[in-house]
Amino acid sequence: MEYKILDSNLSDLYKISLCQKKAFPKSLFTALGNKYLMKMFEWYVTSEHTILIHIEENGACIGYCGGMINDGNLKMGSISTILQYTFKEAIIGVISKPWIIFHTALKNSYPVIFKNIKMKLGFNKKSAISHKNNNGKEYPQFGLIVIGVDGKYQGKGIGTQLLNKIELISKEKGIKSMYLSVFANNHQAIHTYEKNGWVKIIDAHNTQSIKMNKSLINP
Ligand SMILES: CC(C)(COP(=O)(O)OP(=O)(O)OC[C@H]1O[C@@H](n2cnc3c(N)ncnc32)[C@H](O)[C@@H]1OP(=O)(O)O)[C@@H](O)C(=O)NCCC(=O)NCCS
Repeated sequence: MEYKILDSNLSDLYKISLCQKKAFPKSLFTALGNKYLMKMFEWYVTSEHTILIHIEENGACIGYCGGMINDGNLKMGSISTILQYTFKEAIIGVISKPWIIFHTALKNSYPVIFKNIKMKLGFNKKSAISHKNNNGKEYPQFGLIVIGVDGKYQGKGIGTQLLNKIELISKEKGIKSMYLSVFANNHQAIHTYEKNGWVKIIDAHNTQSIKMNKSLINP
């Protein structure tokens, strides 16, 4: 079924947060709660150079996709940018649900979290992004940060529709290529990206996550 894809705005934050919980039931962001999720999605709809789209059925969000345009001048990577924006809500989330400290994803993220606490306190003003990691491609690029489909609706082509729409929007904005990072064990997501023309970038040093790319320049 072909769904209408909507540009998300502030009034959609709650329904998109509910969808995130259904797409990523075990993720750290989901564990941080609705207030955190709404603040996180607020970043996508209020920041410059960001895109957030979603699909609704009977008024409920069943899938969404978002990311950020990288013109080569980003001061921080997407994770740090979002953590800086949602810092207060993240602290409140951890204080109100202290068991989150033991969440595997949080433990794996300690380095980036400490870096961000230092940045927030003004101790770490250094650029947090690696500029050499542009995969040799021209700017501007689109960094796909998040895509999620309600578990009940997965495998019905909704992820593909969202990827196609994000690609179309990116082309209209003159984006040269798109990139993303995905956990190596997320076979469903990797399959979805590959069937939509994304290719893996081999990095022998990182076995936990895979970077993928899609050129938007016609050969
Ligand atoms: C990844 C995701 C967005 C894809 O959305 P979707 O609506 O399921 O995507 P599509 O229906 O277009 O395609 C899904 C494909 O994965 C396949 N698939 C399903 N389970 C799979 C598995 N365990 N391993 C490999 N492929 C799988 C489906 O068969 C389908 O491929 P096909 O069309 O060749 O049959 C969705 O699965 C999701 O939200 N996952 C949870 C959140 C997530 O991991 N997001 C990505 C983070 S990087």
